[in-house]
Amino acid sequence: MPNKTKDKIKKIIENALMLIFAAGGSYGKSDEQEAETIDPKSPKAKIRDVIDKISGHYIPLLTGSFEKSSSPLLAYADSALENGNETTEGILEMLREVMDVLPWEYSYDERSDTPGLGARIGWAELIGPKAPFQSDKFCLGFTLIAPDTLYPEHNHPATELYYVLSGTANWTLNGVTASKAPGEVILHPSMNSHSMETGKETLLALYLWVGEDIVTLSQYT
Ligand SMILES: [Fe+2]
Repeated sequence: MPNKTKDKIKKIIENALMLIFAAGGSYGKSDEQEAETIDPKSPKAKIRDVIDKISGHYIPLLTGSFEKSSSPLLAYADSALENGNETTEGILEMLREVMDVLPWEYSYDERSDTPGLGARIGWAELIGPKAPFQSDKFCLGFTLIAPDTLYPEHNHPATELYYVLSGTANWTLNGVTASKAPGEVILHPSMNSHSMETGKETLLALYLWVGEDIVTLSQYT
């Protein structure tokens, strides 16, 4: 693996963490007046909690490697970078050069009602228990969903924070659906069922997993 690739991916992680920390600011901390009156049980406070959990950690050492991927998701590599905004275009530009060496995967069993989902949905984990940058404290990666695709309802023990990089899609948590655009943050509390559905645009989003159990995989509900 060329050192250049390694350095590019490390820069992407730094950029991703900066975006998430900046989002944490805009979700409560930067506005002192708002922070004083913020309800600790509010979505904003919960988002801050998740971000606080990772803020003390450094980027872990690289113990794995990045190889050329043969994932069918690479058919959407270009479209996944097309629909960002001025805040996310920097990281999307950096990603363009390494999309084909990220560790794209899909770990669910095949569903008889929606065959072939593994060619339309997947993620590439950069930091995590089994990721190239090994950490037992948190996970960080990218989720990609092809256009016109439903990522069916699922849940997992980890608390999950998403940050949309490219593509506007419908996000559902506990039966409530909202359209989310690049730059928006979505929180999925532990074991709360959630789903996403894309329209014309490919979705690319950053995710963070924190909490007591970041090892148990997501399962369809
Ligand atoms: Fe999730």
